[in-house]
Amino acid sequence: MKETFALKGNLLYTPACGQLEQHPQSYLVCENGQVAGIFAQLPERYQGIPVDDYGDKLILPGLVDLHVHASQYAYRGLGMDMELLEWLECNAFPEESKFADLAYARQAYGIFTDELTRSATTRACIFATLHRPATLVLMELLDRAGLPCFVGKVNMDRNSPDILRETTEQSLEETRLWLEQSGDFTHVRPMLTPRFIPSCTDELMDGLGRLQREFGVAMQSHLSENLSEIQWVSQLCPDTAFYGQAYERAGLFGGACPTVMAHCVWSGEAERALMKENGVFIAHCPQSNMNVSSGIAPIKRYLLEGQKVGLGSDVAGGAHLSLFRAMTDAIQCSKLRWRLVDQQTGALTLPEALYMATKGGGAFFGKVGSFEPGYALDAVVLDDSALPTTRPCTLAERLERVVYLSDGLPCAKYAAGRRLF
Ligand code: GUN
Ligand code: FE
Repeated sequence: MKETFALKGNLLYTPACGQLEQHPQSYLVCENGQVAGIFAQLPERYQGIPVDDYGDKLILPGLVDLHVHASQYAYRGLGMDMELLEWLECNAFPEESKFADLAYARQAYGIFTDELTRSATTRACIFATLHRPATLVLMELLDRAGLPCFVGKVNMDRNSPDILRETTEQSLEETRLWLEQSGDFTHVRPMLTPRFIPSCTDELMDGLGRLQREFGVAMQSHLSENLSEIQWVSQLCPDTAFYGQAYERAGLFGGACPTVMAHCVWSGEAERALMKENGVFIAHCPQSNMNVSSGIAPIKRYLLEGQKVGLGSDVAGGAHLSLFRAMTDAIQCSKLRWRLVDQQTGALTLPEALYMATKGGGAFFGKVGSFEPGYALDAVVLDDSALPTTRPCTLAERLERVVYLSDGLPCAKYAAGRRLF
């Protein structure tokens, strides 16, 4: 049995979308890696347990990045004047082809893992590349860092240069082998990762659908991101009524296995109805949507519709790994959408953005992203003393300033009750 201990500080979390719970100077008790409760005073039964006392600092649930490309981290912030398809061709594909070299992969994934460890993100759904050995290196590094992430070996068997393309058979065989080799990690789990429909033939998608049913693994991909991409998919799959159907007909669109689709900027009513019915998660990646000129996803509307929504950095379509930055980008984008596109729904609020970055995305991992009893104890401790004001701020105001102004790096971090630093 793991030890029982408590964190003490100013606790903030969102039990429901838009609802900010505040517990000043309180104890967050952890038992067996899970939240046991929040207490203003330690109850009798917990007297004498170790307490990590963070004084006046802020303590939030660890943040969840529902969509990030580890293989693109090293060149984030480059090629940002291009639209999606050109950016993939000129930037992403040449860079990802380098991961055939294991020494390169070890170096690049080492940098990514160090940065993710330092950040306020405790869990993530991560794209590697199509290279199985390099993907295993990334999983090994994340596992050693204690970060409970999903990682995907990417599948691609069409529409990319020879140096970054598998045959259909190779792609399926390598994926099977990789799934068999991924069982020994403690914290990291594999997830199927067909890159997007333009990269995957129908035959590959059908084969991945069969693998999912055999192994029962989660799945991630891209959906309805950019107008040129969507038009291309309608040409590649003329017998589908909408983009999501190209996943669904392979059995890869939610239902039994957790599924997360990045972007969904342009999802129409039928696609959204199917996502809701099948419990497909939406990874909202606002900065990437601006950088590669994809558009403004109607996230406020999705939340009102009851869709499952979390936030993604989408590095390197997004240049920043910080989920605090993703929160402000999401809010700011939603304000532009409200002013310029759709006056029926309002803008996102800070508690809504925090919810998406914690409990919203955390639900993909189970009971994650909240300080309610029974949730995994993922927490980050933030020191805002370097953001002084001329008047005292409430806790909610301090949270807002940390999100908008800080570099977002925590001074302590816990995942499933384990202290990472
Ligand atoms: N669609 C297919 N691949 C990618 C990628 O690497 N980044 C983004 N943003 N969209 C994609
Ligand atoms: Fe992406």
